[in-house]
Amino acid sequence: MKKTPLILLVDDTPQNIQVLGAILKNQGYSFALTTSGKETYQLLKKVTPDIILLDVMLPDEDGFSICDNLKKQEATADIPILFLTAKNETADKIQGFKVGAVDYITKPFEELEVIERVKNHLRAKLDRDQIKSYNNELEEIVDQRTNELLKKERETILAQFIQGVVHNIRGPISSALAASDLIRAMREDLNVKIDAGIEKSELKNHLSEVWEILELNNEVLKKMAGNLESMLRKSRTDRIQENDVYDLNEMIKQELEFLDVDLKFKNKVEKKIVLSDKKLAVFVALGDIAQVFENLIKNAMDAMFEKDNPCISIETGSTNGFHWFSVKDNGDGIPDSIIRKIFDPFFTTKPLKSDPDAINPTPIGTGIGLQFCKKTIESYNGKIEVEEGRSKGAKFTVYLPAFI
Ligand SMILES: Nc1ncnc2c1ncn2[C@@H]1O[C@H](COP(=O)(O)OP(=O)(O)OP(=O)(O)O)[C@@H](O)[C@H]1O
Ligand SMILES: [Mg+2]
Repeated sequence: MKKTPLILLVDDTPQNIQVLGAILKNQGYSFALTTSGKETYQLLKKVTPDIILLDVMLPDEDGFSICDNLKKQEATADIPILFLTAKNETADKIQGFKVGAVDYITKPFEELEVIERVKNHLRAKLDRDQIKSYNNELEEIVDQRTNELLKKERETILAQFIQGVVHNIRGPISSALAASDLIRAMREDLNVKIDAGIEKSELKNHLSEVWEILELNNEVLKKMAGNLESMLRKSRTDRIQENDVYDLNEMIKQELEFLDVDLKFKNKVEKKIVLSDKKLAVFVALGDIAQVFENLIKNAMDAMFEKDNPCISIETGSTNGFHWFSVKDNGDGIPDSIIRKIFDPFFTTKPLKSDPDAINPTPIGTGIGLQFCKKTIESYNGKIEVEEGRSKGAKFTVYLPAFI
């Protein structure tokens, strides 16, 4: 329901009150009356009029000072004030505008002038109120949408984190499984040999081989726990704290040892490794960079799936203040049509699930490996580049700022 506009008349001259009162009443406005500054302040604590008609001369305080005070208070600042001034008092009009009045009405009052001026300012005021309420509504909607988006973003980050955990756990688990398969095969072989009367020294050799595999397996499990721990910590705290100075060459040598637990990698893939003879010091969390390297190797292995002579080339070096390592394969390369997308989250050309009955299960993917690599390397102010070699395979190079 539209409320009747309320007009406050502040005047102590009975004649003015009578004339203006009659005009306003005829227009259907509600109006309140005060005759001094003190009364006005008191009334404004209880009601908020839509317009104030204010006389300059009042018994306790002049109209300019009242106007000035009202404009300084938040509750009354937006109420339009029209001064009641004599026709020839130009100085009063100027003074009135200076203290924030929107208009003036001249005495003696012309009915039409009063009606028009009041009507105009009332309309403007009601429009402003409307806009203000739209704005408030809009702000509420924006706040609500922002909260929804933040919630969604948090959910996405959590989902990505979980995907990351799943992704990173898969490699070590399959290595551990491969190692236990090998031990099982060796045990059967050993049983046969023991039945046939094996030499003591040969038995010792076999046992130390088993021992070595078990040790490697332990390392893999330890690494897996370490990775998860570092991912969890990374998701909660600033990673800078766990940074340290590491040599990229050493990182790669260590990683290759772990990766060798995967027998396919160890025995079937040819490796060409050319490491820089200088120490390549970088200031990083080792787990992060090892993870990047592992993701690149995994992609290379996937790309050479079912290739006759799979070969991975790994190199390290230094250029322009950066130390780098590269991983190159001899798979089918990356087609032009997808090269811009490969770092996007969840972009994959691999199925999510492999056929369990296949002799050589096809590579599977979630499409977060390269995104993890990019984000991680960029967080160290480094960069990752891909060279698409078409039929010659793909080459990824990771650059990290050299630590001096
Ligand atoms: N060495 C490569 N040779 C050819 N294509 C590659 C190579 N590395 C990445 N790609 C392409 O980029 C896509 C995205 O790689 P990314 O590592 O982000 O995800 P994924 O390997 O599919 O899955 P995930 O790593 O999450 O298990 C791959 O699906 C593949 O199409
Ligand atoms: Mg991958």
